[in-house]
Amino acid sequence: MKLPEFKLERFFAKYEFSVRFLLSASDCESLTMAELLAMADAHSLRLWKNLGLGYTESAGHPDLREAIARLYPGISADDILTAAPEEGIFIALNTLLDKGDHVIVIHPAYQSLYEIPESLGCTVTRWGLQPGGGSWHLDLDALEKDFRPETRLIIVNFPHNPTGYLPTRAEYDRIIALARSRGIYIFSDEMYRLLEFDITGRLDAVAARYEKGITLSGLSKAFGVPGLRTGWLATRDRALLKRFASFKDYTTICGSAPSEVLAIMALEAKDKIIARNMEIISRNKAVAEEFFTRYPDLFTWIPPMGGSVAFPLLERRMPAEGFCEEIVRSKNVMILPGSVFDFGGNHFRVGLGRRDFHAALGLVADYVAGR
Ligand SMILES: Cc1ncc(COP(=O)(O)O)c(C=O)c1O
Repeated sequence: MKLPEFKLERFFAKYEFSVRFLLSASDCESLTMAELLAMADAHSLRLWKNLGLGYTESAGHPDLREAIARLYPGISADDILTAAPEEGIFIALNTLLDKGDHVIVIHPAYQSLYEIPESLGCTVTRWGLQPGGGSWHLDLDALEKDFRPETRLIIVNFPHNPTGYLPTRAEYDRIIALARSRGIYIFSDEMYRLLEFDITGRLDAVAARYEKGITLSGLSKAFGVPGLRTGWLATRDRALLKRFASFKDYTTICGSAPSEVLAIMALEAKDKIIARNMEIISRNKAVAEEFFTRYPDLFTWIPPMGGSVAFPLLERRMPAEGFCEEIVRSKNVMILPGSVFDFGGNHFRVGLGRRDFHAALGLVADYVAGR
């Protein structure tokens, strides 16, 4: 299997640790070790102090899997396999798919969600989100028409990167019903779950709702600890989970011992961490909305419904790639053009999870004012 360049990751690799501000990061402000340890309960502190640095259980530390399972009603620790989030995508898609399968993938999307199926020789239909009337839309009738006899998998990501789109519960139910009636698996990337702006719109994890649903999630976005490289696959299909576990023998075999214990701490402190991150995101979202709507001839602001990113539109007389290039060169602020998502239009991504968002946007304002 040969994989082409991961455009977004290569773009980040160029700038992530050299520019002054990242205006497009998708994660929330990272916690420090001191912050996380200060939130830890006595049990996890004991685990931390007595931690051995040997290999760990391949499925994941039992306490970690218990803590993950508590996020999902009806899911038990035995329905979980831990893996770094990107690794979880790789394991699941390689296990589920064969050459010639047809896969329907939400688009735009995090590149591995469609690139891995394509590289495996699958036929991929991109199920496109469209902007209109101040929000993003997914056409469920189009999904219904996209099914073929060889359709094997639907891949979704809600709240969505890069648009912040979240379907209604009724729409989500319909996606599940369409898959169920055809016996098709759903792979649901839920990396941004728990960051919904209206909590009543939060969707159930697909693993809890659908017997052929696979949830991918992790601690990189909502929990602000991407450096732990900790995530998981959850599914009630035990036979499938066993196959995922066998595949993991060829990736990392098992998780990092220190990361597992720090991950338990983060999950135990979930409410505090999510509240902290939602406060940052909500503040930044208000700042972004005020800024982008101030220049209606230049930007169209499309408010996200959840997650830590948004995908505004830049008016066409200024191509997004050139706009991003000029800003990084003149202001030392990195902005991600929509082209890294293979998405037409003239969008760019902004990340709402960082504390320096206001300062970074101030430099973009200087650039816009000086044009
Ligand atoms: C939608 C989505 N899925 C998966 C990942 C992978 O997460 P990680 O980088 O922690 O492996 C990302 C990271 O940006 C993402 O945005």
